[in-house]
Amino acid sequence: MIKSTIKGSGSYLPSKVLTNDDIAKMVDTSDQWIFERTGITQRHIASNDQLTSDLAYEASIKAIESAGIDANELDLILLATSTPDQVFPSTAVKVQHMIGAKESAAFDLHAVCSGFVYGLTTANAFIKTGEYKKILVIGAETYSRIIDWSDRSTCILFGDGAGAFVLEGIHSSDDISGTGILESSIKSDGKYSDKLYCNGGPSSNSKGGQYIQMNGREVYKHAVEKQTSIVNSVLLSAGLTVDKIDWLVPHQANLRILEATAKRLDIPSEKIIITVEKHANTSSASIPIAMDSAINSGKIKRGDIVMLVSFGSGFTWGATVLRY
Ligand code: ACO
Repeated sequence: MIKSTIKGSGSYLPSKVLTNDDIAKMVDTSDQWIFERTGITQRHIASNDQLTSDLAYEASIKAIESAGIDANELDLILLATSTPDQVFPSTAVKVQHMIGAKESAAFDLHAVCSGFVYGLTTANAFIKTGEYKKILVIGAETYSRIIDWSDRSTCILFGDGAGAFVLEGIHSSDDISGTGILESSIKSDGKYSDKLYCNGGPSSNSKGGQYIQMNGREVYKHAVEKQTSIVNSVLLSAGLTVDKIDWLVPHQANLRILEATAKRLDIPSEKIIITVEKHANTSSASIPIAMDSAINSGKIKRGDIVMLVSFGSGFTWGATVLRY
């Protein structure tokens, strides 16, 4: 059967770093409070002239290079973001032009922090049908532009960044021994849309999005519950048990959510990929940043079973299990 394999990956964090101590000079907070509640020590911030497309471009060229392909071989560019450069055209078409991919399809996908798993699931569906062979899936965000820097309850949590995978359809064994995506599932429940949102938007006030609004406790509770349940359901569909997972790569929202989810799943802490301390929550970019970093450090190796899981505004959530 045809399966979607990760042929290459790349990630990018802007050079400017904002530490917890820097934030403590802007609002009434402290490094200790932020670290104890979230595990975050710093975040990266895009420079004034860097847009989401610029971050996406940096991650994409690394992914394309690591895949060893030419950008013109791509059939589709799928960019997950909730901070696009403009209302239209899509940020994906701008990235397409920047990387020099002339004939591919390109579109944005909006599922907030679950965007990358939504993107992988969508790309996997195109690949399994044989419609497309090579797809660039990107998660890229500039949350620094939608943060109210005077709101201490939200400004401590987010950062800017991008990550990308090149997926390729290959013939692979139809059981769990075959390389590639084994199972992927995405879900949403709009009844919680007022628990985490960005106010404003072209249809509601003729402007772009303004600032993040969040009910932190509700987000925390649902993030742990829903990520746990979707991992269990994806494992069941794949015919796997939790002990077969070599690596859990959760959305890097905050350390307490990651650890609580892993504990409920009974996954030992040494199997969790954690990078949130270095870049905070980069929304749709967090999973490919974490996975790329674990590949580059030699933790995740070819043949490993990797579970990706995400949760975000909507609420949206999803999980993908793959053999790398
Ligand atoms: N520094 C110091 N004090 C603060 C800060 C801050 N940055 N922010 C809030 N406080 C204060 C509050 O004002 C409150 O004070 P009060 O008791 O005098 O009223 C006190 O700290 C406790 O506030 P809570 O909001 O109840 O703090 P909590 O222990 O719930 O921690 C946190 C807040 C870290 C946001 C937590 O709710 C959380 O992790 N939620 C998940 C949110 C998240 O990760 N969102 C990311 C987007 S969604 C996603 O990606 C999955």
